[in-house]
Amino acid sequence: MSVLLTGIGELTTNDPTRDGLLGLVEDAAVVVEGSTIAWVGPAAEAPAADTAYDAGGRAVVPGWVDSHSHLVFAGDRAQEFAARMTGTPYSAGGIRTTVAATRAATDEKLTSHVARLVAEMRAQGTTTIEIKSGYGLSVHDEARSLAVARQFTDETTFLGAHVVPSGTTPADYVELVTGPMLKAAAPHARWIDVFCEDGAFDVDQARTILAAGTDNGLRGRLHANQLTYGGGVQLAAELGLVAVDHCTYLSDDDVSALADSGTIATLLPGVEFSTRHPYVDARRLLDAGVRVALASDCNPGSCFTSSMAFCIALAVRDMGMSPAEAVHAATATGASALDRDDVGVLAVGKRADLVLLDAPSYVHLAYRPGVPLVASVWQGGRPVVPVA
Ligand code: NIG
Ligand code: FE
Repeated sequence: MSVLLTGIGELTTNDPTRDGLLGLVEDAAVVVEGSTIAWVGPAAEAPAADTAYDAGGRAVVPGWVDSHSHLVFAGDRAQEFAARMTGTPYSAGGIRTTVAATRAATDEKLTSHVARLVAEMRAQGTTTIEIKSGYGLSVHDEARSLAVARQFTDETTFLGAHVVPSGTTPADYVELVTGPMLKAAAPHARWIDVFCEDGAFDVDQARTILAAGTDNGLRGRLHANQLTYGGGVQLAAELGLVAVDHCTYLSDDDVSALADSGTIATLLPGVEFSTRHPYVDARRLLDAGVRVALASDCNPGSCFTSSMAFCIALAVRDMGMSPAEAVHAATATGASALDRDDVGVLAVGKRADLVLLDAPSYVHLAYRPGVPLVASVWQGGRPVVPVA
């Protein structure tokens, strides 16, 4: 069954064989066969298909690839946010509030909460999502958090090393994370992550935990340099991790290390918005040759947005990215940050995940901040928003 999606005013392909960063095609069409893309080009040259769908001149972009989220949690920390907005600083310790609520929630409650957030993301154009554990912090609660996440995505990340829970010592907890907790978590996870930060885990602990994960078949990624300067970014570069996330406080040596290693810097501007930390100078990174991805970091503490369009608008307004760079970072480079080459690009053979915008150009995503521009979302070759 093939579908011709035609009448696309402006198509962002991210196809490197086409012109410009976004590989734009004007007056375009896409043919979808099953779940993948079979043809892309000017509408005037499009082949016939079983059915046709008119995009009505709308702009079409690849579905967002949100490579960093913490959706498995219960409870609410709105009061913590309100206090921050009147001067109380963000601290990693707030994570323990969510841990208590998450441990108390049933599997059904956790699952329905994740389902609601995934639907919220999809309605805004996100078609690939990474989901971390990290609010269980016991063998049982980390394993069940990942089992819940796995129902929604293959991109699951074991983040038992989020903070040291109350009632245990850091040394004992690292032993638990690298031993029984890792054994229970690994069957449900693709990635392992560590919150490498003052108040969480130091560089040596992060190195130990990532090595244990790698020995158990997981791939490493890292939360680093979110709240302070530190050695996390350089550790990620030294280990050749595919991505290191946050990167809010970067020395010149950190930037050079990222450029040399090819490790992607995943920037999370919603966190800076919600914690009043300074926005990252993405221009400095891009000009140094560092690859930059954008993700939401949707979580109940440091940033409770699920909107990739909001992150794009912040990156353009406050981080020195052009609209084209920001859209590319939220799609193609987000896919690279998950080591995926089947999403984030609209070209023959890629997954047919795409978003129709009620706008003539992708530029409107930053030009019209806060406006719901998503007209429809196709995931795996079929419209999922609005629900058919
Ligand atoms: O990515 N930085 C660590 N973890 C989350 C925040 C978790 C929380 O405050 O609940 C983050 O910002
Ligand atoms: Fe995070």
